[in-house]
Amino acid sequence: MSKNICFIDGLEGVLKYREVDINELVELPYDAVSYLLILGELPEEQELADYSARLHAGREINREVMDIIRMCNFNVDAMEALRTVISFISQFDPDLNDSSPEGNLRKAIRLIAIIPTIVAAYYRVSNGKDPVPPDPSLSHGANFLYMIKGSKPGPLEAELMEKDFILSAEHELNASTFSSRVTASTMSDLYSAVVSGLCTLKGPLHGGARAEVMNMLEEIASPENAEKFVLEKLEKRDKIMGFGHRVYKTYDPRGTIFKQLSKKLAESKGDMHWYETAEAVENVVIRELVEKRGKPIYPNVDFYSGVIYKYLEIPPQLATSIFAIGRVSGWIAHCFDQYEKKKIIRPRAFMLDEC
Ligand code: ACO
Repeated sequence: MSKNICFIDGLEGVLKYREVDINELVELPYDAVSYLLILGELPEEQELADYSARLHAGREINREVMDIIRMCNFNVDAMEALRTVISFISQFDPDLNDSSPEGNLRKAIRLIAIIPTIVAAYYRVSNGKDPVPPDPSLSHGANFLYMIKGSKPGPLEAELMEKDFILSAEHELNASTFSSRVTASTMSDLYSAVVSGLCTLKGPLHGGARAEVMNMLEEIASPENAEKFVLEKLEKRDKIMGFGHRVYKTYDPRGTIFKQLSKKLAESKGDMHWYETAEAVENVVIRELVEKRGKPIYPNVDFYSGVIYKYLEIPPQLATSIFAIGRVSGWIAHCFDQYEKKKIIRPRAFMLDEC
């Protein structure tokens, strides 16, 4: 792996996956970005066709997996089911103990392909509906929306889901990627590393923030209520979900793209309500924290993506698992890098003081 998996300039607001800027990446299909992350280079046309074909062929889930999904608790976050099912299916992967690069790539493709189907099947069953089988002719994003809703999405909705997966795919050594890498560093298998990532992503200070943003928008309900809501939160020293970042001390470049996309979606639906409510929250947070107190607290990846999910009528219970659909390619890229190093990650306790 010659190129860095990820580059972030937190002061200038720059993000690159393997030296390609996020503004270019977002125009590609998710499959191409996944290939870039995992195999290190952007694919040629035939390479992308072959990779997509393998991903699309791996989307199906069998009856045993459906049985497990039906046994899950439907009143909790979908991450509970996703983590359980991934842990369950690892036992039946013929390559479970094949740690060669080829064996790991086969497992990687199966994982990336199957996670959206698990999330969608869980969602359908938990709503008393039959699961919708994947459609191999559709892109990663369009197929996911199709499996959730049971009808093919329009072009803008399909494009937004695809871009959401791309923008969520990778972000250097964030908490969940670090967890995955630590697991891989013990030379444990890829399923275990992905389960570690899922467990860490679900926390509300990390991927769980997206669902919290959706709940917050629901609570605020309209732009006129944003001022009071934010001021009361700040008075209590509560965090505003979807704002702030350990690395970015300026606007998160993914936040900028998500903001533009959410506006486009709102306009296309002729309903600016959620966009304007979110923008009102942003204006108060920036006035209070950035302008008055000089703290670099801007919208992060979770804020306007939460707005997009509101328009796509995705419930908050699915938000973190949808984040995982995109992020799994990043976790796997880091695991492959770690497997090559063959070196255990073992920090000393005093390093925690710097975290
Ligand atoms: N709302 C209000 N104040 C904030 C926020 C926020 N969202 N984020 C940071 N601050 C303030 C803190 O209160 C603190 O103020 P103080 O110095 O007066 O005590 C200061 O900014 C520094 O905050 P920390 O929590 O120390 O910053 P840290 O780098 O440790 O945390 C984090 C980053 C976890 C993202 C934090 O900003 C946060 O909790 N945000 C809300 C949750 C969220 O949106 N998480 C998603 C992050 S992106 C991702 O993981 C996919």
